[in-house]
Amino acid sequence: TPDKAPPQPGDILVHADASKEGQPIKMSELSEQGVSAWPMGKDKDGNNVIRKAEPNNQLAVFRFEKDRFKAPEEGGHAHVVLELDGITDQGVVVYSSICTHAGCPVPNDPNDATKLFCGCHSGQYDLLQGCKVIGGPPPRSMPQVPVEMKGDQLVLKDTFVTAPFGFLNEADWETYL
Ligand code: FES
Repeated sequence: TPDKAPPQPGDILVHADASKEGQPIKMSELSEQGVSAWPMGKDKDGNNVIRKAEPNNQLAVFRFEKDRFKAPEEGGHAHVVLELDGITDQGVVVYSSICTHAGCPVPNDPNDATKLFCGCHSGQYDLLQGCKVIGGPPPRSMPQVPVEMKGDQLVLKDTFVTAPFGFLNEADWETYL
């Protein structure tokens, strides 16, 4: 069903927090602290569907000054920097919020906005280096979702570029797609 489908190209990112759930996320609302998001697409009748019946679809959106992104080291995957009209020093990245180790939800780390810390087994990811693993047991980087800005909305360009939690490897994920 569409509410369980993985993120799709053309989906809009909407708020996941209860107070604003379903509202499109605006550029002005983004910061280093991250905003929780769901992808929202359409069902076959053209109605909006928030894809929140699949826990793996929980996403987080972060905005940093572009210069702070580091080149991903070998083994990490490249981050995508979103060049905005008139705001060329800002970069926006969207990642899964579900740990690649055992599937725990991962909040942004309030003590260091550039890292994600998974409280289940102390997994750590670096948001400025393609969300690669920098500590603990996660086996792979947090999956990224490429986005673009259309008007004031964040629109997905693709689904997860690497396998999200629940898919043991890239081949399983590609078969699923
Ligand atoms: Fe995140 Fe184990 S589930 S480190």
